Amino acid sequence: MKLTDRVALVTGAGAGIGQAIARRFADEGARVFVNDLTLDVARRSADAIGKERAIPVAADVADSGAVAKMFGEVARQAGRLDILVNNAGIALQGDAEIDTFNRVGEARIQELMSGGPVKTHWTITRDMSDATWRRMIDVHLTGSFFCAREAIKLMEKRQQGVIINMASIAGLSGLEAVPHYCAAKAALLGFTRALALELGSQKIRVNAICPGFIETAMTDTMSAVLKGQIVAQTPLHRWGRPEDIAAAALYLVSDDAAFVTGQWLSPNGGLVMQ
Ligand code: NAI
Repeated sequence: MKLTDRVALVTGAGAGIGQAIARRFADEGARVFVNDLTLDVARRSADAIGKERAIPVAADVADSGAVAKMFGEVARQAGRLDILVNNAGIALQGDAEIDTFNRVGEARIQELMSGGPVKTHWTITRDMSDATWRRMIDVHLTGSFFCAREAIKLMEKRQQGVIINMASIAGLSGLEAVPHYCAAKAALLGFTRALALELGSQKIRVNAICPGFIETAMTDTMSAVLKGQIVAQTPLHRWGRPEDIAAAALYLVSDDAAFVTGQWLSPNGGLVMQ
């Protein structure tokens, strides 16, 4: 039990990686606030984790008012916060974006394999709307700032705490067709380092995780061909599981990582090596 009596908040914990992290923290003795966009989703996830240790809370992390209210609820119920995981995230939005991603991606693979010139091009950056760009930055980067801002107010009272920002290999090496996602995730690494510098003297550690491709609803929309290509390129020849990321998160928030701050850890099966 590495997190006995700690109080944690995991954003976007209604599903996927966030839910796996919340479950792992609860299994290790933490009391976990399970955030998602709606209370319904958060409650279902908290119920699945276990009622005594998981408490549902709702907020769109990109809404500073809702975030402040949510942390007020944490302060009221728990009186403190030891751990924040900024995990909430979005990727491709809607059928048209998903269809373009799969169609163009597969066409380019075929052209490359046939040895001819690549004639099918991404037009993502040219065609992207202001709203699509802004929502991506708002949820990942601004949302992490809003949550960190509130969490730090609680953590500095006790001069201790741990924050994890969920970045991605997309923020390390880039990823085709999602420039807004890559920009948000790379920016989160800068944010992580800045916070680590600012908060180290208050014994608040801040790190990032850069997952590779993980089996969740977010990636389930990728075509079989594209999924297969990722397995082929990954030295461990499999997709990651949410539990692989939960294990990394547990390490970073536990006392085992007491001397680790301002770093990123990338469970990615060897797909990206840096
Ligand atoms: P997911 O789509 O399975 O779950 C994301 C959860 O976040 C959902 O329950 C969703 O309702 C919630 N959410 C979305 N926007 C929100 C908002 N504004 N406020 C509060 N909650 C919100 O996604 P997954 O795969 O579990 O991703 C979790 C994080 O890991 C994201 O930040 C993602 O970018 C990152 N990641 C995922 C990878 C993957 O391959 N699945 C790879 C690298 C990073």
